[in-house]
Amino acid sequence: MFVKKNLHLKNINRIRVSEGRDLVNGLRLDRNEKVDNWEKNILENVLNGKPECFLSTYPEISTLYEKLSKHLNVNKNKLLLTSGIDGSIKNILEVLCNPGSNIAVLSPTYAMYQVYSDIFRLNLFPIKYNEELYFSEKDIEKFLENSPDILFIPNPNQPIESCLSIEELKKIASKCYDKNCILVVDEAYHYFGADSSLPLLDDFDNVIVLRTFSKAFGMPSIRVGYTICNEKIMSIISKPRLAHELSSLSIAIAEYLLDNYDKVREYCDEIISSREFVKEELKKLGLKSHGYKGNYLLITFHNGTNVSEIVNKLYSEKIYVKGPWEKPWSRSITITIGPEKLMKKFIENLKFIME
Ligand SMILES: Cc1ncc(COP(=O)(O)O)c(C=O)c1O
Repeated sequence: MFVKKNLHLKNINRIRVSEGRDLVNGLRLDRNEKVDNWEKNILENVLNGKPECFLSTYPEISTLYEKLSKHLNVNKNKLLLTSGIDGSIKNILEVLCNPGSNIAVLSPTYAMYQVYSDIFRLNLFPIKYNEELYFSEKDIEKFLENSPDILFIPNPNQPIESCLSIEELKKIASKCYDKNCILVVDEAYHYFGADSSLPLLDDFDNVIVLRTFSKAFGMPSIRVGYTICNEKIMSIISKPRLAHELSSLSIAIAEYLLDNYDKVREYCDEIISSREFVKEELKKLGLKSHGYKGNYLLITFHNGTNVSEIVNKLYSEKIYVKGPWEKPWSRSITITIGPEKLMKKFIENLKFIME
């Protein structure tokens, strides 16, 4: 065997899933993406004014750092662009952990936390939600008792939403600080109503914040996310970055979105109002929903409902939803929220199926 290290990776199962969704005609409510489409001429607008050498030269990323720094009101030395938050998480774990390091994350959550934890041979302590959709702060304290390295809080979390206020996050950051533990706040779903944890960076040296262009900015395709932290941590975690952090096209689109932030804000406001509309409509169907600060809702069906059958029937209408989840949430599914007119199609179909 020529490979001498990391042989455990052989046993980790990673597949490139072709999900079989009809992306053109289907209603995509299963991946917390942008449910409607961007206007047809967006790429034309993005590329408008780019020099002829745009595609023939290596990417120029410094302007994006500047625009992002201005947008966030954060010094650019505190920013690191990555391939989505996915890239941020991998980078942080790879650089700041050793095999056997203790990390924790809310559970269930974004699946890649577990995958990277297996890859880097970390001890992942799940802070579990209960059936009533709460996690216990005592579990965080329990984790912090035992040589903790990094606590990840997706805020808000998905598929089960909890959303801590800045005051609550401050308390957790302080507890982590006392235990020499880094707190990473994963703000994938920021801009839909949650508090920003960026002010924590001024008060705590142990806090890192993650953001992305995939959700509120509606561009998961360009794979742009970023890490925000103090310059001391940044001087370590930014070093293994690739020679070219992002492609020229991704950079150009991210810059375009920052230049046109009013469009992004408008879209987020539309989703927030549609989320409330869907909640009301679900209530009329006698269904409980849970979700206040993201672009998704957890819907719980009544005891005895065959939830898989509902999901399959929706699927056959090309309406894609996520779930049912594992016990104790096996009566629940998650839907992504899109504009009201598209959500009406979901509600009408659900109503028809449930009758
Ligand atoms: C909580 C959470 N964190 C991170 C991510 C990854 O986002 P990105 O597309 O920026 O890699 C997701 C994606 O669904 C998520 O739900």
